[in-house]
Amino acid sequence: MMDTVVQSYSNLPVHKVIGELIKNHSENKADIRLVAQKLIDWRAVRTILDCGCGYGWFEKALVGPFDSITGIDCLEENKAEFCEAAGRIAKEVIFRNMFLPAPLDLPADHFDLIASAYSLYFFPEALAEIKRVLRPEGTFLVITHSESMLKEGEQYFNFSNLKKVIQGFSAENGETMLQKHFTRITSIDYDNAIVFNSDESEDLALYIDFKKAFISRDVVPLLVMERMLHLLKTKGRLSFNKNDRIFVAQK
Ligand SMILES: C[S@@+](CC[C@H](N)C(=O)[O-])C[C@H]1O[C@@H](n2cnc3c(N)ncnc32)[C@H](O)[C@@H]1O
Repeated sequence: MMDTVVQSYSNLPVHKVIGELIKNHSENKADIRLVAQKLIDWRAVRTILDCGCGYGWFEKALVGPFDSITGIDCLEENKAEFCEAAGRIAKEVIFRNMFLPAPLDLPADHFDLIASAYSLYFFPEALAEIKRVLRPEGTFLVITHSESMLKEGEQYFNFSNLKKVIQGFSAENGETMLQKHFTRITSIDYDNAIVFNSDESEDLALYIDFKKAFISRDVVPLLVMERMLHLLKTKGRLSFNKNDRIFVAQK
C-alpha cells in the first residue's frame, strides 16, 4: 500500500493539478471543506490535529487564528506546503512524517479538533489512538468517499482490490467503525459527480492516469484508459459518481 500511496501522492504539483481538475469537473460546486466547517463549533477550537494532512488542503480553507496545528503524513514532500498553509492561521505548526497507524507521541485528551480528509481509509486502525489524543469535549471530523464511486468503472472492470482500500473507512461503513470508539456520531452527505464532455478527453486521461497506481491493483491501467476514452468518444459525456460523506464524532 505504501508504494501505491507514494506513487499517487508524492508528486505534489500533479496532486494539486488533479485537485483543481476534480473541482472544475464537479457538478456540486460547493466547497466540501466549507460544508464540513459548518458542522464545527469553532469557538471551542484552539488546537488541531490533521491525520493524513497532505499538503494542507484542509487548512487552506480555514480562517483561524488557532494556537497550534499538527499535521501527520507519511510523505515528507508535503511538509513545506503544509507548514505554509497551517502557519498562515496558527501560532505553532508541527509536521510529523510518519506512517499511521502508530503510537502517537502526543499527550492524551489534547486536541480540540482532529480532522482526516480522504485519508482515514488508509489507516483505520489508528482510530483508538485518535480517540486517545482527542479532548473529552473535542470533535473528530472525517471526510471520506462512498464505495459507489467505483460503480461506473465496475460495469467494465473488476475493482475488488481498490474497493477494499475504500472499504477501510467509507461512507457506507464509517458509522459502524466510529461507533467502536466514539459517540454522538452524525454525518451528512455531499452528493457529487465528476463529468467529462467529449472535448475534455485530455482531462479524463489525466484523471485516470493519476489513479493508475490504485487501478493497477486490479487491472492494467492502460486498458482502463483506452476503454474510458473510447466510451467518452462514443457517448459524448461520461459521469463518475463522487459522492462523499462527512462524519462528525465525539468521545
Ligand atoms: C488523498 S490524500 C488526502 C490529503 C489531504 N487530507 C487532502 O484532503 O488533500 C491522502 C493522504 O494520506 C497520506 N497517507 C496515506 N497513507 C498514510 C499512512 N498510512 N499514514 C500517514 N499518511 C498516509 C498520503 O500521503 C496523502 O497525503
